[in-house]
Parts: sequence; structure tokens; C-alpha cells
Amino acid sequence: MNTSELSGKTVVGIFDSGVGGLSVWRELIKAIPGNRMVYVSDNAYSPYGPRPQSEIIERAVAVTEFLISEGAGIIVIACNTATAAAIDVLRLRYDIPFVGMEPAVKPAALLSKTKTIGVLATKGTFMGRLYNSTLRRFATGVRVVEKVGTGLVDIVESGRVDSAESIRLLERYIRPMINRGADHIVLGCTHYPFLSEQIAKIAGPDIKLVDPAPAVAKHTYEIMEERGLLCHDSIDQLQQTRFFCTGSPQNLLRVARTILPSLDEGFFERME
Ligand code: DGL
Repeated sequence: MNTSELSGKTVVGIFDSGVGGLSVWRELIKAIPGNRMVYVSDNAYSPYGPRPQSEIIERAVAVTEFLISEGAGIIVIACNTATAAAIDVLRLRYDIPFVGMEPAVKPAALLSKTKTIGVLATKGTFMGRLYNSTLRRFATGVRVVEKVGTGLVDIVESGRVDSAESIRLLERYIRPMINRGADHIVLGCTHYPFLSEQIAKIAGPDIKLVDPAPAVAKHTYEIMEERGLLCHDSIDQLQQTRFFCTGSPQNLLRVARTILPSLDEGFFERME
């Protein structure tokens, strides 16, 4: 029996190349407390960032098929890279709404006093049509210091956020943004909010880190409300989400527990 048959209500599907999407999931469970959710960490294929677009599309399609088979009536692509590579294909192919991630360039550019912002994202995200059209629409007249966060997804996936390598890489990516006067740093990959503390230590108190997850959760809520997909059941938070992964569940379990400490191992299943 799949999750929608269990509840008879719209299930929210969420996926990422790993644990990064949990930074979006933690906002979704606050914004949409009455719907069941299924989260897929496609960590056997992480990181997506350096992969060719065709491979990312292949993975996005496989995970989407799985989420739909688990009853998903709406899918949040909790990954900037997968959104950039695959959202157009998914929207054409499936008749359910998809919500994607987009680096929060717009609020950062609007709020910047120095008219300089930093964006940390994967190569795939920087190459995407969405990111580049957002730049054209909202960042004209703003200096944008872009850095590809090579190695950071692996660091978060392996739970090494405080390691010397993590700090060394962050110094390398964040320092040039500070030196050029950025007063906002956009976290353009859903893994990076799990490095916020380490980034903030380098950036200092005057630079604001911008995470698009709350806005994405709000947008998902609005789409669901408009389409009559919201449930108002009271669901025990621990029962609300089923977690699947294609690789090892260890880090998914560890990171998910930093958000909901009493999750037990029984909630983590393999996506076959
Ligand atoms: N969380 C993904 C994103 O937002 C990570 C991409 C990757 O796996 O490289 O872009």
C-alpha cells in the first residue's frame, strides 16, 4: 500500500541528490503540517553538480516515477541543480505541479546596500537558464560575485562540516565575496544551509546569508491551497514523512535527526 492509499490525501514528494533537501523539508513541515510527505535522497548519484544535464534528467525522472508511485500529487525539487537541469522536462512529462529551487538573487539584490552580492552554487545551477534569466531580471546594476562550491556537497553528505577541509574551502569561496564588498551571500544549493554556521564565522555579523527555503515552502503552500491539495489533518510530525535513499541512510538519518531529534531508523527505507 502506498502513502496516498494510507491517507487518501495529497502527498508532497520531495527530492534532492542527498541531505540538502532537508533544509527545504524543515520549512515544508512547518508551512504544510497536515499533508504526508515522501523524501528521496538520491545519494547513490550525489553530487549532481558536475554531472551532464542528460544524466540529471534521467535521475530526476526515475525519482519522480518513484514519488508518484508513492502517491505524490505535487513534487518539490529541493535541489537547485536538478531544478536547473530537469524542471522543464518534468513539467512537460507529468501532469502534477512541480515546485523548483532558484537561488535567492532577487531578495539579495533588492536588499543589498553595497549593490554587491555573493552567490555560492553548483556549476549546473550557474549554467541554468533559470539562474541567468533571474540575473537579467533582478540583478541589473548589482555586482554578483559567483563561486562554484566544489567539494561542499560531499562535505555535507559525509558529515564533515567542521573539518579543516570544509573551513579551507569555505575560506576560498567566501573571502573573495567579502573582499569585493558583498553584504548578502545567497546559498544557491540546498546543502549549503547546513554550512551556515561555518560560513557565518568567516563572513561575520554584517553579511546576511540568504536561504530560499522559507520562500519555497510558502510558494508550495500557496500552490496547494489554490488547487485544493492542502489537508488539515493533525498528523504526528514523526509520522508525517517517509524517507528513502538510493545509497547509505547514515547521513540522512543524522541530518534529519538534527531537525526532528526523535526520528528512528524505521523511517528510513531504500528506494529500489
Ligand atoms: N542540493 C543540491 C543543489 O541544491 C546539490 C547539488 C549536487 O548534488 O551537486 O544544488
